[in-house]
Amino acid sequence: MCGIIGCVSEKDCCGILYDGLKRLEYRGYDSAGMAVLGETLAVFKKKGGVDSLAAFYAPGNTGIGHTRWATHGAPSDENAHPHRAGKIALVHNGIVENHAALRRELEGAGERFASETDSEVLAKRIARAYRGDLLSAVRDGLSRAEGSYAVAVIAEDRPGELVAARRKSPLVAGKGQSGAFVCSDIPALAGMAEYIARAEDGEFVRISSGEIEFFDASLRPVPKTFFRAPQAETWLFAAGGDRMRAEIAEIPRALSDTLGALRQTDLAPCARALRTAKRLFAVACGTAYHAALAFAYAVERDAHIPVYCLSSGEFRCRPPLIAAGEVLVAVSQSGETADTLAAARLAKERGAYVIAVTNVGGSSLTAAADFCLVMRAGAEIAVAATKSYNCQLLCLNYLAAQLVFFKETALPPWYDALGDLPAAAQAAFSAFADVDRLAGALTGARAMFFLGRGQDEPTAKEGALKVKEISRVFAEGMPAGELKHGPLALVEGGFPAVCLSTQASLAAKSENTLAEVRARGGYCALFTQQQKWLKESCADVRCRLPALPEPLMPVVAVIPLQYLAYKMCLARGLDPDKPKNLAKSVTVE
Ligand code: G6P
Repeated sequence: MCGIIGCVSEKDCCGILYDGLKRLEYRGYDSAGMAVLGETLAVFKKKGGVDSLAAFYAPGNTGIGHTRWATHGAPSDENAHPHRAGKIALVHNGIVENHAALRRELEGAGERFASETDSEVLAKRIARAYRGDLLSAVRDGLSRAEGSYAVAVIAEDRPGELVAARRKSPLVAGKGQSGAFVCSDIPALAGMAEYIARAEDGEFVRISSGEIEFFDASLRPVPKTFFRAPQAETWLFAAGGDRMRAEIAEIPRALSDTLGALRQTDLAPCARALRTAKRLFAVACGTAYHAALAFAYAVERDAHIPVYCLSSGEFRCRPPLIAAGEVLVAVSQSGETADTLAAARLAKERGAYVIAVTNVGGSSLTAAADFCLVMRAGAEIAVAATKSYNCQLLCLNYLAAQLVFFKETALPPWYDALGDLPAAAQAAFSAFADVDRLAGALTGARAMFFLGRGQDEPTAKEGALKVKEISRVFAEGMPAGELKHGPLALVEGGFPAVCLSTQASLAAKSENTLAEVRARGGYCALFTQQQKWLKESCADVRCRLPALPEPLMPVVAVIPLQYLAYKMCLARGLDPDKPKNLAKSVTVE
C-alpha cells in the first residue's frame, strides 16, 4: 500500500533512505523513488523495486523516499513518487478520494500534470500554498483533501527541514544518532531510530534543527511521549534469500517467544468484559481472518458462546449489531489494515470493548483497542503471512482458554499442551519431504481444492489462500461437505484436492470426501496425524502431521500447506516474497 520515509540526517541520507525503503518494500514494489536535498534538490524515480534505486546517489542530508503499490495510474517512471511541483517534493501513501475534482480545478488554474496519480494533486496544492513556511503550506495544501494520506514533504530552499502529516494512513517519527525520521511503520526504523512516537490522525510532524515537533490540525504544538524503538535484533531483516522460507523456518521460535510473552500478559483488565459476554464478534482480513474463524470455532466449542466472525471490510457493510458492553476481537499482523482499524473504531464508537491481537506493539490498532495481545512473531516481510498466522492461532487459543477460565473458573484440558507447540511445529517440518513429492505432482495444476471439516475448515481456507497468493494457481478452500453442492462439477481426471483431517470424530467423513473425489478421477492428498483412522488407500499422497491434543492441531497443520504453496511458487519460477498485485500491509479501504 506504499511505504514512505523521510529523514534529516547527520550525513548524506541516500543510503539511509535506501535501507529504509528496502524494509518498507513489503508495502509495495512496483516502483520506487527518492528526493535528496543538498545544494540542489535531486529526484530519482523508476518503475520496478527498490533495487532500481541502488545506482542513484546525490549528496544531501534531507530526503524523502517511496515504494509504491499502484492505485491511481499504472506502475511507471512518471507515476512513481516523489512528485515534484514548484519548490516542493512529496511522497504519499493513501488515496485522495476527491483527486479528480481537485485536479480539474488545478488544470483550470493553468497547472500541467506529469503523472496520472492522485498524489500529484497534493504536491501541486502544497507548492501553490508555499511561501517559505513549509508547515503552513502542507496544512493548507492538504486542507481540502478527502480520503487517506501519510505524506512527507521537503522544499528546495529549506534544507534540514521536513514536514509530514497523516490522516488514516500510518505515520511514525523516530530519532536516533544518525538523525530524525518519519516513516510508514515502526519496524522499518529499527536500528536507525532509538525513540519513536506515533502521529495521530490530523497531526503534523516537523523535523528541523535536529528536533521533531508534533502539531495539531490548527498547528498548535502537541506534546508527545517517545517510547523506545524495538531492538533491531527482534526485527531481523534477512539480506537476500527468500523471506517466506526463512519465516516458515522461524515458526518454532516465533511460537516460543509468543508463548513467553503471553505468559507475562495480565488479562485481568479484560476479565469483566469476557466474563459477561454472551456472544463475541471477531474481525480480520486475509490470513488473519482465517485465524479469526479458527478462534470462533474454539470459543464455541469450549466456552459455548457464539462468535460472529466477519471479514473486517464486511463489518461496516452489515447491520451494526454490536452494542455497548459487547466484545470485538480484531486480529491483524500489522495492526495497520485499514478495514480492520475501521471495524475496531466503529465497535468502540458503539461502546464495545475491543481486544486487539497483533504483531506490532504501538501499531494503530493497539491505539484503537482497549486491550492488546501482542504476539512475538518478529518482523514478517514476505507478503504471504506464515509465522504470524501460527502465532495468531496461539494467541487466540490462549484468549479462548482465558475466556473459559473467566466463565467457568477452569482452563480447558488442552491448555497445558500450549507449551508443546514450538516442538510440534518443528516436528511438522518432517512432512516437507512428502510435500516436495506432492508439489512435484502438482506442477501442471491450474486449479485445486482444499477441503476440511470442523476445525480444519479455516486451515483449508488458509492453504488455498497461500497457493493463490504466491503460486498463482486458482485454489478454493471450503468445508468438505460443500464439495458435492457444486464444486464437485470441476473434478475430473487428475484434478487435485488436498484434504485436512485432524479430528478423530470426523475421520470417517474425510474418507467419504476423498472417495467422492477419487471416484471422479481426482488426485487426493491427505494431511492427518491419525494415520490409523483413515484407510491407507484413501489418498494418492499422505502427509503425516505431528500429534497434539486435537484442539491445537490447526496451529501446526497449516505448516506443510504454507510450505506446499512455497514449493509450487518456486516450481512456477515466481518470487515468493513479491506476489503479483499484492502488498503486505493494506492501508487503504
Ligand atoms: C494483506 C496481506 C495478507 C494479510 C492481510 C491482513 O492482504 O497480503 O497476507 O493477511 O493483508 O493483514 P494484517 O496485517 O491485518 O494481518
